Amino acid sequence: MNDQDFIAGLPKAELHLHIEGSLEPELMFALAQRNRVCIPFDSVEAVRAAYSFSNLQDFLDIYYAGADVLRTEQDFHDLAAAYFARAAADGVVHAEIFFDPQTHTDRGIPFQVVADGLLSAMRDAQEHHGLGSKLILCFLRHLDEDAAFATLKAAEPWLDRIEGVGLDSSEVGHPPEKFARVFAAAGDMGLKRVAHAGEEGPPDYVWQALDLLKIDRLDHGNRSLEDPALVRRLADEGMTLTVCPLSNLKLCVVDDMANHPLDRMLAQGLCATVNSDDPAYFGGYVADNYRAVAAARGLDRDQIVQLARNSFTGAFLDDAAKATHL
Ligand code: ADE
Ligand code: ZN
Repeated sequence: MNDQDFIAGLPKAELHLHIEGSLEPELMFALAQRNRVCIPFDSVEAVRAAYSFSNLQDFLDIYYAGADVLRTEQDFHDLAAAYFARAAADGVVHAEIFFDPQTHTDRGIPFQVVADGLLSAMRDAQEHHGLGSKLILCFLRHLDEDAAFATLKAAEPWLDRIEGVGLDSSEVGHPPEKFARVFAAAGDMGLKRVAHAGEEGPPDYVWQALDLLKIDRLDHGNRSLEDPALVRRLADEGMTLTVCPLSNLKLCVVDDMANHPLDRMLAQGLCATVNSDDPAYFGGYVADNYRAVAAARGLDRDQIVQLARNSFTGAFLDDAAKATHL
């Protein structure tokens, strides 16, 4: 069996996926038409051609603009349904998906429209693809603490269907400490906690995510490798890192896939996993991420299997559900 088929056939969990980042240009155009929204592109090809980024902020500017076509519950349903179909074809049997409610509520779209559209697609994914999923509400870190608290309050009627909270958007200049109180409140409500840290931000942001946000999982974490004491702490705690190779390349977190640190992470005892982040913008879904990093770094099949096992170790599943995959 070739690597391509081996990777797609390997059951895996996806733990780092922004559902708004799975908006393919074709669906962006269809939704723009359906909702009579103007977008600043003439064609699908023109949209794809605009996807060249020199850093995280470059990408975020275009990603937030693209999300403007999402208006109705059906739009959010269709967005997530398209992701789940792609993920299932890649061997994903469990997905923990991020959504950014503030990107929508700040445009006047009610929280209910976003949450119910996503939740109905999640139910369909279980029925049609046997793909289980969980929802993680991310706070936008370029906005303030009050806005994060207001979002947590708006989410209250859905908290029985939301697994946890996360922290995303522009990292540098918005340290985790800014959100310590809202993460503490979320923890008191029984929610899991994850945060993007060490993507562009320094190792100190990862320490803050551990000590102040009390995270259960670390999103990206690449720059942790600059601090040996931090690597020891992450390894000793069995912290899962949700690494996103194609994202790292597209956002210039790594200069070349040949220099991606994924196998160094494994060699240093870190529970690293492979994920797609924003697949419509970065050129591939989760199996493409496995293939790209495996080819560039010469990963063997044991390492590939280890990465898939790590994805279940790090998932927010109970022990019995994990045991079926490990
Ligand atoms: N939002 C969507 N993708 C992101 C990323 N890679 N980093 C921070 N925020 C994001
Ligand atoms: Zn991300």
